[in-house]
Amino acid sequence: MKNVLLSILRDKNTDIKKFRETAEKLAYLLAGEVGDYLAKENVSIITPITKTKAIKLKNNIVLIPILRAALSMLPGFLKFFEYANIGFLGLRRDELTAIANLYYKNLPKIKKSDSVIILDPMIATGGTGLKAIEILKDLGVKEENIVFVSIICSKYGVNKIKKSYPKVKLIHVQVDSKLNTKKYIVPGLGDFGDRYFGTL
Ligand code: URA
Repeated sequence: MKNVLLSILRDKNTDIKKFRETAEKLAYLLAGEVGDYLAKENVSIITPITKTKAIKLKNNIVLIPILRAALSMLPGFLKFFEYANIGFLGLRRDELTAIANLYYKNLPKIKKSDSVIILDPMIATGGTGLKAIEILKDLGVKEENIVFVSIICSKYGVNKIKKSYPKVKLIHVQVDSKLNTKKYIVPGLGDFGDRYFGTL
């Protein structure tokens, strides 16, 4: 289903309503997938019939949507992680150099044991992702407690993050082969934020 939804997002004829609905559905599916990689603990519960072994998520969750495109992913993630703390990182890509500049940071206290989920639908050069991980690591977050979720990555961007932070778990729907001269992902889907927020 994820690839069917991604095809709708890629199509330039998809209107804003459909784009928003589809992005939110896809984020919901990705949130479920992230759950598979989070630490669990065994608990004992009582069904209406008997006592049995069960599991629950072990650690507190911190969601970090990178402004602004990842705001689209937040509703889907909150459906699974209702009690998550939420922190925001505003990273703007310089149109010429593609270097990520931090313009806003509002993070909750992050405990050593917290699972930190970074959300950014598009990994192009990887610059934004690297900066976000670096900020979290400077705060003492362990690489192995970070999951980075996106929808499309470029091969270049994903390899850059993997090389610098091999213990960060990367989850995405598809890896695209190229970047164009403006550092947009090819074939990609265009500017995710512009299409979601209607600022084309
Ligand atoms: N951000 C986008 O929204 N699209 C791209 O192709 C690259 C970065």
